[in-house]
Amino acid sequence: MGDAGDGYESEDIGIARAMAEPFSAIAEKRLTRRAALTGAVAAGALAAAPAMAQARRGSSLTFKDAPSTYDDKDRVSDGYRRQVVVRWGDPLFADAPSFDPLKQTGASQERQFGYNNDFLAFMPLPLGSRNSAHGLLCSNHEYCNSNLMFPGIAERGALTKAQTEVEMAAHGLSVVEIRKQNGGWKVVQGRYNRRFSMSGMGFRVAGPVAGHPRLRTKDDPTGTLVIGTLNNCAGGVTPWGTVLTGEENFNGYFGGDAGKTPEAANHKRYGVQPSRGAPWSAHVERFDVEKNWNEPNRFGWICEYDPYDPNSTPAKRTALGRIKHEGATCVVCPDGRVAVYTGDDERFEYVYRFVTAGKYDPKNRAANRDLLDEGTLSVARFEADGTMRWLPLVHGTGPLTAANGFASQADVLIEARRAADALGATPMDRPEDVETNPVTGRTYIACTYNERRAAADAAAARTRVNAANPRVGNLTGHLVELIPPGGRGAKADHAADVFRWEMFVQGGDPADPKSGAQYGPGVSADGWLAAPDNVAFDPKGRIWIATDGMPTQAKPARADGIFGADTEGPGRGTTKRLYGAPSGAEVCGPCFTPDGRTLFLAIQHPGEGSRSTFDNPSSRWPDFRPDMPPRPSVIAIERIDGKEIGA
Ligand code: FEO
Ligand code: CA
Ligand code: CA
Repeated sequence: MGDAGDGYESEDIGIARAMAEPFSAIAEKRLTRRAALTGAVAAGALAAAPAMAQARRGSSLTFKDAPSTYDDKDRVSDGYRRQVVVRWGDPLFADAPSFDPLKQTGASQERQFGYNNDFLAFMPLPLGSRNSAHGLLCSNHEYCNSNLMFPGIAERGALTKAQTEVEMAAHGLSVVEIRKQNGGWKVVQGRYNRRFSMSGMGFRVAGPVAGHPRLRTKDDPTGTLVIGTLNNCAGGVTPWGTVLTGEENFNGYFGGDAGKTPEAANHKRYGVQPSRGAPWSAHVERFDVEKNWNEPNRFGWICEYDPYDPNSTPAKRTALGRIKHEGATCVVCPDGRVAVYTGDDERFEYVYRFVTAGKYDPKNRAANRDLLDEGTLSVARFEADGTMRWLPLVHGTGPLTAANGFASQADVLIEARRAADALGATPMDRPEDVETNPVTGRTYIACTYNERRAAADAAAARTRVNAANPRVGNLTGHLVELIPPGGRGAKADHAADVFRWEMFVQGGDPADPKSGAQYGPGVSADGWLAAPDNVAFDPKGRIWIATDGMPTQAKPARADGIFGADTEGPGRGTTKRLYGAPSGAEVCGPCFTPDGRTLFLAIQHPGEGSRSTFDNPSSRWPDFRPDMPPRPSVIAIERIDGKEIGA
């Protein structure tokens, strides 16, 4: 989610423990060495060596940058087109009412596409195929903009009970069957379609925390079944064809004073506190933390569901730890174990990796069903010499003992942040997506921005610059590249204890020598980015970076968008803009069809803005009707000639 005007934006509330990792001049050497290895150069070095930059210019992407213009419309590069596939409120079932913004009910929203689409997965039909014309579009619905959904509501203002029911139904997940017909994508009201919300479906608690007393509530005295899922941001797809989603800013939904409860210290570390509006708690007791102090412990997990089985029960996979998960992305290791990367998106929080104990069985789908319930969770520590180490969060080892308040592995997982503090993990500049390039086997962390990153002599050690987060007051974000040992592609050993790392791109305007921006050569005035968030790879292994915050983190305001770049060769790190979003919107969920010819994007919170309301939003995208508010929607981008995106 973005930073300005989010209904439940709460990425800055938790408190990370101090960590002593002073900035070193070695960080600058990391950039220089990387530039020497790849031919990509920092903005400063570009001025010093223009001849070299010119000689090595050459992105494999053939399109001309889309304009970065920021207004109420969206824009795509010449030679491309974009289609709206599904919008907030579109009926997903034959019995669903058509959308009427003045007659919303919880019951109707349960049968319609939810609000604020974020993560997207295109799951081909049938299961196991590479069909690029028919599949299941799986979408997260992260949060609600009450002031854009309902007339007469101020941002974070009080809601009626009926509006609360609509919002609870508008959260969660959607599975939508889609088919390409006559050149366009159509929603099919078929048997796979499904909604998960905050109201109906129970999520089984799976893994080491299942049934733990700290998850038990009045509604669920067994601590094994949670109704609903909250604030799902990004996600991932497992090798066995299920979908993972990350519960992110769950803290913002709880009213009451968490400080008066037995879980006070835990809740403080995750930012569960009453300082920001939590309007649901006025109507739904489970969100009153003073009465239900274990309820927040039931969120902040990675969820897994099977879109191919509409009757399946989703699960919360507690072995992957409780943090503000941005997403969860899988990669199969050479020995068959599965590594899952996940970022904790808050200022000065950490990057995690889970490695399964068992091996993925490609021949027996059912055998993988509970693979994510057993394994080792680790947290990343970056060294200035280019080494990164995975520090295991295993109860009974190092400081993770009863003497430090961790009675079992369940406590380590429920309080994963505190456990990671104790191990000395590296505080990052808001780690969002963590995604692996299937061609090279290298993994990329999008650190979106952190304006509070302080200088090397700052009093609080956790806030100081470090080698992997080297910019003071980092407004424009960066991408860190992880290099596992073992070799390229499938040979890369993502289960190894020690990786190498490099800086890939530092956002900002490369024409501004003070920005500290770092790209490959030849980035245009429209092609540079800020606030990287979600990441995807096309079939050629090129990286595609969606942004969330360019209107506020870039001056003058520029539209958020999707940017492509090579990750190796002469065009490494040369970003190019394919799309620009309408005002208020961030771009989420980049996802390619297997043939690389359709790129799905989730356009989240269009029309958002500090003065935006239902009656007077900053954009009425995508319908542009005076009687229709802006609607978060999924779009499909394709080349007009039908060839692969980017060519
Ligand atoms: Fe929901 Fe980290 O963005
Ligand atoms: Ca995000
Ligand atoms: Ca974001």
